[in-house]
Amino acid sequence: MSATPVPGTDDSAAAQASFRVNVNGQDFESGRDMLLIDFLRDVLGITSVKNGCKEGACGTCTLIIDGRTVRSCVARLSKLAGKKIVTIEGFPEREREVLAYAFSAAGAVQCGFCIPGMVVCAKNLIDQNPDPTRAEVIFAIRNNYCRCTGYIKIVDAVLLAAKLLRENLAIPGASPSGRVGERVIRVDARPKALGEARYADDFSFEGMLYGKNVFSRFARARIRSIDPGRALAMPGVVAVYTAGDIPGKRYIGHLAQDWPGMIAVGEQTKCCGDTLAMVVAGTRDQAEAAAQAVQVEYEELEPVCTCDEAAAPGAHQVHAEGFSQFGKWVVPKDNVLYRESIKRGDAQDALARAAHVVEGTFSVPPVEHAFMEPETAIGLPDGDGIRVITGGQGIYDEHHELAAYLGLPLDKVRIQSAAVGGGFGGKEDMSVQHQAALCAYLCQRPVKVYFSRQESINYHPKRHAMEIHARIGCDANGILLGLQARIKSDTGAYASLGGPVLQRACTHVGGPYNYQNLDVEGTAYYTNNPPAGAFRGFGVTQSCMAVESLVNQLAEKAGLSGWEFRHRNAIRPGQSLPNGQIADPGTAMVETLEAVKEAYERYEADPDFHVGIASAMKNAGIGVGVPDIGRCNLAVLDGKVHIRSSAGAIGQGLQTVLLQIVGEVTGLARDQVEVEHPDTRLTPDSGTTTASRQTTFAGEAARGAALRLKADLDQGLSLAGLEGRTYVGEFDFKSDPMGSPKPNPVSHIAYGFATQLVVLDRDGRLVEVVAAHDVGRAINPLSAEGQVDGGVAMGLGYALTEDFPLKGGIPQAKLGTLGLPKAAFMPPVTIHFIEKNRPDGVAFGAKGIGEIVCCMAAPACQNAYYKLDGVFRYKLPMEGTFYRKTRK
Ligand code: FES
Ligand code: FES
Repeated sequence: MSATPVPGTDDSAAAQASFRVNVNGQDFESGRDMLLIDFLRDVLGITSVKNGCKEGACGTCTLIIDGRTVRSCVARLSKLAGKKIVTIEGFPEREREVLAYAFSAAGAVQCGFCIPGMVVCAKNLIDQNPDPTRAEVIFAIRNNYCRCTGYIKIVDAVLLAAKLLRENLAIPGASPSGRVGERVIRVDARPKALGEARYADDFSFEGMLYGKNVFSRFARARIRSIDPGRALAMPGVVAVYTAGDIPGKRYIGHLAQDWPGMIAVGEQTKCCGDTLAMVVAGTRDQAEAAAQAVQVEYEELEPVCTCDEAAAPGAHQVHAEGFSQFGKWVVPKDNVLYRESIKRGDAQDALARAAHVVEGTFSVPPVEHAFMEPETAIGLPDGDGIRVITGGQGIYDEHHELAAYLGLPLDKVRIQSAAVGGGFGGKEDMSVQHQAALCAYLCQRPVKVYFSRQESINYHPKRHAMEIHARIGCDANGILLGLQARIKSDTGAYASLGGPVLQRACTHVGGPYNYQNLDVEGTAYYTNNPPAGAFRGFGVTQSCMAVESLVNQLAEKAGLSGWEFRHRNAIRPGQSLPNGQIADPGTAMVETLEAVKEAYERYEADPDFHVGIASAMKNAGIGVGVPDIGRCNLAVLDGKVHIRSSAGAIGQGLQTVLLQIVGEVTGLARDQVEVEHPDTRLTPDSGTTTASRQTTFAGEAARGAALRLKADLDQGLSLAGLEGRTYVGEFDFKSDPMGSPKPNPVSHIAYGFATQLVVLDRDGRLVEVVAAHDVGRAINPLSAEGQVDGGVAMGLGYALTEDFPLKGGIPQAKLGTLGLPKAAFMPPVTIHFIEKNRPDGVAFGAKGIGEIVCCMAAPACQNAYYKLDGVFRYKLPMEGTFYRKTRK
């Protein structure tokens, strides 16, 4: 496709063309009508306009037309004659600089995928109202989702930009040193704010084709036939591939290889995200039309939709044909993926002795990650191998799985990470990567495979729906004695990380308290629902909801406030956690309570407010005996230090953390250090970005490498003198496995602890969240605050608005009806960081906080609403609240 700039007048020959638009002051013409977003991105190569949904729901494609913000995915060229279209690329230079600075300095940029849309809204608002109020900014971004930031710092950024422009102020210089503990502007903030950072869909290559999945129409059906004939005859179609075309191992998956890349004729589908064929064509439209034209004959079968259906005698076995796990062929029995059992002390006796006991069964739904960037990958022939540009969370997981899928040795596969538009765990599994690699390998042409927003929703693993029954008891003084819990987890069609997620739900269900009698059993069941896997909190979000709600009920029975009860029971250094691990000297659970005490008591004393409280602990690192290695190398090239790690930067600010650590150790200036994107050819394997681990693991590896570089610099060698050297950093932490016979096993390198308050007004509206977090050491407080804001927003959404209804295993929600929080929903968040770790410890004492931040809002909300209306709620999202009426 091409567009012709139109330099002449209306009577030029070009003016006879069908569709003419003015973009950033220049006229263009197009021979055919199309969506404005496609024209801008695919024809003009404008990357600030992002495709987050193409349904008019997300706002990532926002631009300005004649002084109004418009979503370019709902505008067609045929309606735009005579209108002036402006994207960030066309903003005056001063405004671009101010907006980029303001969004960066305010800490408003995380994954960045939503940010250009926000920047557009900011400019348009400031053009019309140079001195907006906070409420006016919130109104201006009302149509735009951000899944990362909780909106607070975005609003701060717009207000800052308005002030700089209004008062014609100079833009302050960058932070001079960029050391550990400073509020450092992130290295990726400016290009993301201006729409210049390249996500996978922003890449295109000469001769590139488009691949589109033919997905199953049913959650469970036998595939009788697949006929690609009609599709193959369509214009632009290059190939249609089916299961038999996969040259390597057809089944993929991190831990269990139970997920077929394509379903073969004669087999049953296991969920609606199953791929039956891949169509490759010259354009997106051709690929999408041809995918619709592939004729599939189905025998629709009754799906298994709940854990109870899966566990029922005689139930259909979702994986009756079996799959490979750690090289062995496995056929799961009773639809069980995984069972966990944790026993310490004598919980039954403890509960029998207890003065007060409470119990309840809680039900929490699946949750969609709704990262703003839908999945895209590009496969590129690379000699006799393959190169893939991806936006996932762990390039080495993709490296192994892709090599196996294509039947290639590892050295024939290269994975390069583009910028990642959010993940939250939902991009740990393969989605488009293996299909892009396959299509490119078979066609020997570059092939881009992309999901529409609905395909993304239907395909990738969700947060697990769980049913949790728990009993918990204390003595007459409110001292916890024991807990029993039974957890059922719906892992959907495929294992993904359903085993470890259930394990974390079980290991953390005891909470951050000092007691030793625990009896926990959990079972994860296969069903025909979309798979469930990793999602921020990794099982702890679910078990925290159940047990913290019960802790508040138990406190009431014991005649204590939720705060006092927790203070009496909070784990302290030297004591054993319910899982047996001895709390280390950096344990700051009590300090998190003390940080919220004043606010808790103030709100408790005020009849106009209702304050709920919850606490949590969350592991940093994979732990439990699983290999857990962080790696980061420093290469001296062209007089600069290049930080190389495969640790995925998915919006959490890891690149800047590594830069700060290297700067702190070596004393090098910020402009002497570059951070590279993950690339299996260049960056060492630092494992997946999961389990809040990379700040600690990649961070400590970076520190180790930097110490070696520093030793050479201290010898008087300059960077020029060290040209070509690489300093290797590796950090390996050995933990004890589950079931270790040790009385006090070390399950994880560290735990973070936290307490959050949720405050409601008399109408049940959110007023404030107070969040106190034991972070060990905040390497970059600006980024850490952003993690808290964003995690609180997700937690509040989980509590109050987000749902994922399914019918016969088919998702019923679209992006716009998932109940994702928008800017007006968010209350202010008051943050307290507790930094108790020794600054000379691992990674300067930092503990990851990416996950714990979203664990407490739901039970704290539950507690606040109970105080408001006396209704003890057992189900999420909660009903009968200001935000969601009771459903019949
Ligand atoms: S891409 Fe246009 S609103 Fe989402
Ligand atoms: S920064 Fe807004 S979606 Fe990631």
